[in-house]
Amino acid sequence: MNVEPTGSDLFDTFGRPLRSLRVSVTDRCNLRCRYCMPEDEYTWLPRETLLSFEEINRLVEIFAEFGVDKVRLTGGEPLLRRDLPTLIRLLKQQAAIQDIALTTNGILLDEQAESLRDAGLHRITVSLDTLKPDRFKQLTKRDSFDRVLQGIAHVRTVGLTGLKIDTVAIKGFNDDELVELIEYGKSVEAEVRFIEYMDVGGANDWGMDKVFSQAEILETLRQAYGPIEPVRENSSAPASRFRLPDGTTFGIIPSTTAPFCATCDRSRLTADGMWYLCLYARQGLDLREPLRMNDESTVRARIRSGWQQRIDRGAEERKALESSSGRGQFIQIEELRQDPHLEMHARGG
Ligand code: GTP
Ligand code: 5AD
Ligand code: SF4
Repeated sequence: MNVEPTGSDLFDTFGRPLRSLRVSVTDRCNLRCRYCMPEDEYTWLPRETLLSFEEINRLVEIFAEFGVDKVRLTGGEPLLRRDLPTLIRLLKQQAAIQDIALTTNGILLDEQAESLRDAGLHRITVSLDTLKPDRFKQLTKRDSFDRVLQGIAHVRTVGLTGLKIDTVAIKGFNDDELVELIEYGKSVEAEVRFIEYMDVGGANDWGMDKVFSQAEILETLRQAYGPIEPVRENSSAPASRFRLPDGTTFGIIPSTTAPFCATCDRSRLTADGMWYLCLYARQGLDLREPLRMNDESTVRARIRSGWQQRIDRGAEERKALESSSGRGQFIQIEELRQDPHLEMHARGG
């Protein structure tokens, strides 16, 4: 029998380990957020290329051999994938996977929170950028604001803890709502995290003038609440956490002004089985083809050599452009149309 050497302790060229895998289960979404997928129609991934739950589970098992112990299910909108709890149940059977989380826009949580809890999901993060219904519609092109709030309320009712709310802070759009969002977070027992607007994939109206920076976020909250102290912790998570004088904690994900590539232990699997080593990577490695050929040694070899050769530090490189050629649009719309994998909604936000 040909026994493969297992390769836990896999490190990339900067010594970063492979720990966290973001699995996009669909490229479809029921919102059209202007910072993510603003167009009405996209070139969708062909149905026959989408990985089945069994295939995703098998790939996660192989990734776990190399040190992955955290899985985050994303999309598009992951709750649009029929019967997602079945995948969670499969992943739960893997002893190596210690943390299974979900990033969702919350619209379908009202219907699904109970079955997600029963399947054993550990944590939920809901994206919510505004508490004003008219702004929600302007940003997302959909009228689903009430459903999102109902969904968030329902998460608590069914007893799922560890809820986070992710808000992309956009200058001139929602930068006047930070305090309201923190207060709302307290009322639903969720930790709010403000994300700097990034120039990824389909964020075609991105501009540095729309980035509400970590420094500005902290100053706004300091004026409202008083002194803010950093929460000291040793973690590879992208969010820096802070504490308000009343003990409330919140996070900031400063991807644009203070990238955290140096500790990045994450990679992304698209719904059709392409593996991307960075949010900003232009090319991925095809894991679906060898998986479907039952050639798992090639899957392992691609993972091992892919990670060992990893040089990605996309957000830092984007930032460096500010002092040289300027930080224009990352990917032009024509290129995005040719390769749907370049979109944020295909590789998981
Ligand atoms: P936990 O810390 O485990 O809760 O997860 P997380 O912070 O990785 O999860 P989440 O999906 O909530 O990520 C929040 C946001 O951070 C994403 O929507 C992205 O905007 C941003 N983000 C996540 N991962 C990366 C990354 O690898 N690089 C960059 N630059 N930004 C990221
Ligand atoms: N900038 C920052 N975050 C983004 N997301 C998607 N597009 C962007 C962007 N351009 C993230 C948001 C959202 C998640 C699904 O993806 O955090 O909550
Ligand atoms: Fe990781 Fe790339 Fe994000 Fe940097 S930009 S934190 S390397 S995914």
